[in-house]
Amino acid sequence: MVSGLGVPREEPSSEGSRCLIPRMLFPLLILALGRAGAVELRVPEEPVLALFGQDATLRCSFSPDADFSVAELSLIWQLTDTKGLVHGFSGGRDRLQDQGRGYANRTSLFYDQLALGNVSLLLRRVEIADEGSFTCFVRVRDYDSAAVTLQVAAPYSKPSVHLEPSKDLKAGDTAVVTCHASRGYPQASVLWQDSRGANLTSNVSTLQVANEQGLFEVRSVLHVLVEPSVTYSCLVLNALLQQRGHASVTITGQPLALPAAALWVTVALAVCVVLLLAVLAFVCHQKIRDSCREDAEQTGPEERDEEGEEPKTALQLLENVESREGREQEID
Ligand SMILES: *[C@@H]1O[C@H](CO)[C@@H](O)[C@H](O)[C@H]1NC(C)=O
Ligand SMILES: *[C@@H]1O[C@H](CO)[C@@H](O)[C@H](O)[C@H]1NC(C)=O
Ligand SMILES: *[C@@H]1O[C@H](CO)[C@@H](O)[C@H](O)[C@H]1NC(C)=O
Ligand SMILES: *[C@@H]1O[C@H](CO)[C@@H](O)[C@H](O)[C@H]1NC(C)=O
Repeated sequence: MVSGLGVPREEPSSEGSRCLIPRMLFPLLILALGRAGAVELRVPEEPVLALFGQDATLRCSFSPDADFSVAELSLIWQLTDTKGLVHGFSGGRDRLQDQGRGYANRTSLFYDQLALGNVSLLLRRVEIADEGSFTCFVRVRDYDSAAVTLQVAAPYSKPSVHLEPSKDLKAGDTAVVTCHASRGYPQASVLWQDSRGANLTSNVSTLQVANEQGLFEVRSVLHVLVEPSVTYSCLVLNALLQQRGHASVTITGQPLALPAAALWVTVALAVCVVLLLAVLAFVCHQKIRDSCREDAEQTGPEERDEEGEEPKTALQLLENVESREGREQEID
């Protein structure tokens, strides 16, 4: 059974076939085959998490025989899917003629560790495009290969929230709250919550756009009906980094203000009152003047018999004038 499993391993094209063989069977397999100088690579099983712009170490190593010399080591780091060369080493020195352009000056080995079987790759200034699987291929008499997955992450900037319109909000108006965070990776989850901590999911639209570096800019828009006082919080989550950014805005809507119609009614009423006062003032003035004149003409015959002692109104004064004219005509 063991030798049956070992068959694909003997074929020249057996790169990657080693995953068919359970790890625990390896010592048995090597014993059974009895081969000296067999290479078994160790790589991390979990993806390696690297921060954008920082350096990452893709670990790969084997246990060399006692008589191992770096001169007999051939090492290739390549992209698992395209087989593009990331870093080459053989005959005791780097072989970078065919290196993929995006990796120039960004790769190196831990040269002092090579003799110990440590063929880890240092990748500098990690980019979003680096995300993916790298294969470590080693030949020292025997050969082996194994893949390491690189996962890139970038923390989002602290979110900012923006309210539109920003003032003169009244209960019942529609307002737009925008939340913005930038330069993160991978895509964020955006959560909106109100003052009570309840999730707001309707009237939300979130857009995530990658820039030329592959970093995302996230913009989430919440449409709300203005209430007298509510706080809206925006949470931007980067699950990979377990990063939580938070920002909030409190809307202080004015309690229902006077509508325009009420304002005009108020103005009209005020004008009426002023007019009324003016008329009253005019009448009083006339009356006062009139009574002064009356005092002066106390002995005038026409006035006395017509009106008696009653206070005269504007109308009565008018009648008075008319009747006086009438009498004059009669006299003529
Ligand atoms: C790599 O470094 C060399 C020497 O410092 C420089 O001439 C070359 O332009 C660099 N290549 C890239 C792609 O940065
Ligand atoms: C190989 O070297 C790297 C860099 O020094 C180190 O992080 C890693 O643990 C080493 N691996 C082994 C198996 O010693
Ligand atoms: C809001 O949604 C998040 C994510 O979907 C969830 O973890 C949280 O429990 C929710 N909170 C409430 C109060 O429903
Ligand atoms: C929010 O969505 C609800 C339906 O989910 C809708 O009835 C309401 O009018 C929306 N509010 C605003 C301000 O768009």
